[in-house]
Amino acid sequence: MIISEILWSRGYLRRRSLQALAGFFAASPFARAQQDPFRGHPRIPKLDELATAFDFEPVFHAQVPRSIYDYTMYGVDSEFTLRRNRQAFDWVRLLPGAAGAATPSTSTTILGTPMAFPFLIAPTAGHGQLHPEAEMATYRGAEEAGATMIVSNVSSLPFEKIATAAKSPLWFQLYPRPEMEANAELLERVQAAGARAVVVTIDQQASVYERALHGRNLAASPPRAPRGRGGVQSANKYRVNEGRLWYEWKLFDELRKMIKVPMAAKGILTAEDARLCLDHGVDAIYVSNHGGRSLDYGPSTLEVLPEIVQAVGGRVPVLFDSGVRRGADALKAMALGASAVGLGRVSRWGLGAYGTPGVKKILEIVQQEFVHAMRNAGCASLASIDASLAKVDLP
Ligand SMILES: Cc1cc2nc3c(=O)[nH]c(=O)nc-3n(C[C@H](O)[C@H](O)[C@H](O)COP(=O)(O)O)c2cc1C
Repeated sequence: MIISEILWSRGYLRRRSLQALAGFFAASPFARAQQDPFRGHPRIPKLDELATAFDFEPVFHAQVPRSIYDYTMYGVDSEFTLRRNRQAFDWVRLLPGAAGAATPSTSTTILGTPMAFPFLIAPTAGHGQLHPEAEMATYRGAEEAGATMIVSNVSSLPFEKIATAAKSPLWFQLYPRPEMEANAELLERVQAAGARAVVVTIDQQASVYERALHGRNLAASPPRAPRGRGGVQSANKYRVNEGRLWYEWKLFDELRKMIKVPMAAKGILTAEDARLCLDHGVDAIYVSNHGGRSLDYGPSTLEVLPEIVQAVGGRVPVLFDSGVRRGADALKAMALGASAVGLGRVSRWGLGAYGTPGVKKILEIVQQEFVHAMRNAGCASLASIDASLAKVDLP
């Protein structure tokens, strides 16, 4: 064979023609008969096969359409803060204790609500896209696992509907609106329906996420923001939700008068903002970066937690979320001063993958891990969890 022919045989055209030939054979009925007839029908594991919250994520992925999966998973822009939320837990080590209790006590009372475990279902939008029974299915799973649910302002079902059926206390999350009468009317309704606390979310959010933009041609339908958010969702070239750009501290003074139950401020990431919240009559500080969906390149919540706890000085409870996936994560946050932790995506994975039993199971897994971590760290009760348990090595 002459050299030019050898080069040709390894060249691009030759490879292309071989690929075409292989494609022809693969598409033939003979080859198809050899294929697995069940391809494309993934086996969904039974609930008792799942060992950690992470195990639910691929099942969730298999069970919901891609745009809905993405809506739950993504963070804003480069997703730096989304990743950092998880990374931060690796920078905190738990120190083993000598005398653990066989069955540590995990019960607590936060803002007047008794809780079997210091876990909250963080408010997340539109559970109707994850399950036909929407927030009712989440509530039932949370109730069976003994967790308190914070119902989002942009829930698929009205708060009153869930509250009427609920046996255990519910909290309500508010996205304040520029029209104060609209806030007053909504707050009156949810409090009349029995909201035990109101969580006012003040962090900004992008209206459109890059993952959704990239995915728009792949999804069966274009990703839609949940209804009723009150922000401008389209034709907004800066992608910040204009519905929330007007927030000012005096808003708290107005809202405070309308909220007769305890009020928490969600989205606090600095000691200064925490102090201002206290000046404006807030009953709890909720440290959160919206699960990496607010300001990208902002800090992880675990990094800023200690300075906020110090600024609050024990005057009100400090709630915490963003990145919690394991019981040990919760113990780390509590060692750094949180009174309770919220689970956002975790609860959505449970709901979208298995409905009510999934929510219950995923919560039970995290609760069991929490008890296990408490025992190994030598904690007999939540009161014995303190900074001596944690060694922080931030980079
Ligand atoms: C899909 C999704 C929807 C959310 N919707 C809301 C909401 O309606 N109101 C709100 O205050 N926070 C909302 N959040 C933020 C959560 O309350 C919580 O701060 C965040 O999920 C915590 O991070 P994690 O998912 O890592 O646990 C949402 C988060 C996600 C992932």
